[in-house]
Amino acid sequence: MAKKVVVEATINGEPTEFLCEPRQSLLESLRDVLELTGSKEGCLTGDCGACTVIVDGRPLCSCLMLGVEAQGKTIQTVEGLAQPDNLHVLQQKFLEHASLQCGICTPGFLMSAKALLDRNPRPNEGEIRYALAGNLCRCTGYDKIVRAVADAAQTLAAGQRRGAQLGSGPSASEATDKFLQGEEVK
Ligand code: FES
Ligand code: FES
Repeated sequence: MAKKVVVEATINGEPTEFLCEPRQSLLESLRDVLELTGSKEGCLTGDCGACTVIVDGRPLCSCLMLGVEAQGKTIQTVEGLAQPDNLHVLQQKFLEHASLQCGICTPGFLMSAKALLDRNPRPNEGEIRYALAGNLCRCTGYDKIVRAVADAAQTLAAGQRRGAQLGSGPSASEATDKFLQGEEVK
């Protein structure tokens, strides 16, 4: 067995140290060492996007990155999306729009969408489809996923507008309730 290497990274906001063999992928390290099994193993060749995580702000296939390459990086996985009492607005919108069936692709879509909204909070449909082009889904036909991401973007933007006016933003769920009731969220 190859000698293991100590890797230090920030994962979901927590300083994290783990051991991995130089040949192990980040996906293996996340799932098998850190027990963060939200990132899914699909193709292992970079084609399906089920293993997508955000590394230093960019969505990447964790099956194509070595665990040792995580040294010093900031990594977000699907486990870090929700707050203790609230789903992330993307997760909430995926549920509301029935954007998943078997769910194997969902963590990857959520992380690609999160990376998109972090860098472009008001994407148009083409930009959403482009950002999600590396994620495959065999169940939903994609439209419901695109609708959920668009709705999440609208909800987040409404929350930010209101936060800018009041000095503090509403929770995602407050903004979502208003949006779904057809009220203008200021
Ligand atoms: S498992 Fe990584 S892209 Fe498919
Ligand atoms: S929900 Fe089954 S592959 Fe996407």
